Amino acid sequence: MTTTLITGGTVVSATGRTPADVLVDGERIVAVLAPGSELLGSDLTGSVDRVVDATGKYVIPGGVDAHTHMEMPFGGTFASDTFETGTRAAAWGGTTTIVDFAVQHPGQNILDQHQLWQEKAAGRCAVDYGFHQILSDVQDDSLTAMDELITEGVTSFKLFTAYKGVFLSDDGQIFRAFQKGAQNGAMMMMHAENGSIIDVLQQQALEAGHTSPQWHGLTRPWQTEAEATHRVIMISHLTGAPLYVVHVSAKQAVEQIAAARDRGMNVFGETCPQYLYLSLEEHLAARSEQWGDFEGAKYVCSTPIRSHHDGHHDAMWQSLRTNDIQMVSTDHCPFCMKEQKELGRDSFAAIPNGMGSVENRMDLMYQGVVDGRITLERWVEITSTTPARMFGMYGRKGVIQPGADADIVVYDPNGHTSIGMGKAHHMNIDYSAWEGFEIDGHVDLVMSRGSVIVDDTGYIGRKGHGSYIKRGLTQYLS
Ligand code: URP
Ligand code: ZN
Ligand code: ZN
Repeated sequence: MTTTLITGGTVVSATGRTPADVLVDGERIVAVLAPGSELLGSDLTGSVDRVVDATGKYVIPGGVDAHTHMEMPFGGTFASDTFETGTRAAAWGGTTTIVDFAVQHPGQNILDQHQLWQEKAAGRCAVDYGFHQILSDVQDDSLTAMDELITEGVTSFKLFTAYKGVFLSDDGQIFRAFQKGAQNGAMMMMHAENGSIIDVLQQQALEAGHTSPQWHGLTRPWQTEAEATHRVIMISHLTGAPLYVVHVSAKQAVEQIAAARDRGMNVFGETCPQYLYLSLEEHLAARSEQWGDFEGAKYVCSTPIRSHHDGHHDAMWQSLRTNDIQMVSTDHCPFCMKEQKELGRDSFAAIPNGMGSVENRMDLMYQGVVDGRITLERWVEITSTTPARMFGMYGRKGVIQPGADADIVVYDPNGHTSIGMGKAHHMNIDYSAWEGFEIDGHVDLVMSRGSVIVDDTGYIGRKGHGSYIKRGLTQYLS
């Protein structure tokens, strides 16, 4: 087994920072030592197989992105990153664990679908991975399937109040699934938007001749998110199941979550970089020489990126500081402009929903530290430690401590990352929503379970290194 000493860096956790050396033996961290320590009387730098000099750099637990959709069938096509390309891009960006969504469409058997997703990922991933299960059709057998999946390490289930005919469950179905979650301890995840109202608004906009991407945002007003968020909070209250609201973008939805938390409920939320940095006016309504007003299709995702006039972006940043929102995931669901987003050339409602960010999340959130939006410790907490706790992986993931998996990122605060398009990123998309973003920091080295998979020569990992994480129940309940 290979031993590695990461020396001279500042180890940053969710609760503090300290100069320390990190000793890795095989796949695990075995010691976090005061600088220059001797272990068993020997000078460590001379006795280990490999020394990584992290002088002047941060040593952080690898990122945990708890919301990705590799190869997801959606919008008449498939998300363009496979488990192979998407997890490799994640590695480049310092994310060493993803939790993806196995998909059940109405009529499909949940356990078969879970198995299918296991097969898609097995032997292909560059970093470790787990699964949530999407439920779109809650029947009696769905409830028993939930129990079975928990024993397989799938301890969280996502339901939708939008996308009629594809994913939407009615309130009774959601209620039944939550009742089961209250019994078996599952984390109930909700895509909270009022899909019925959105469908009417979309129809009316199209009838009025509005076909361009900005209408995606204009037909998903904040009220549709706030209402559905309130509704699922009430279902959580009625059943006692813990609730995790995905991709929160509206200030008023955060207010609903904050109010529930103030009442002492186990209600949690995630936001995504797009809701912190991108806006309806600058992005969804953008024009370019190449795409004209279809440029905005690059930013079509749901919930939508919101107007910069209404305080949503500041509210998101603030909620991250106050812990009204607990973590940041990407909702990585990329589609190329050519042949995929283009499906919606004549109708914004036909543009596949989703954006790609799995490679950029750690950097984008670090820029929040540089800009004074969050602290260094909070960066680690919202990108790694809390996602690990929220989804039952903490101790193994999300922390640098003896016994944890050696998933470690050496991050250079004096480095620089220019996010570009084309070959300048590693996601399988023909554009980058983050093109032109300049980050005052750099992912220098990434270790996954003791193997260096990214260093100054680039990606040196391998397909199939990533293994399935059988998750436990959430460790975040209060
Ligand atoms: O636009 C999005 N968010 N696409 C992925 C599916 C989902 O709702 O998370
Ligand atoms: Zn969703
Ligand atoms: Zn999603």
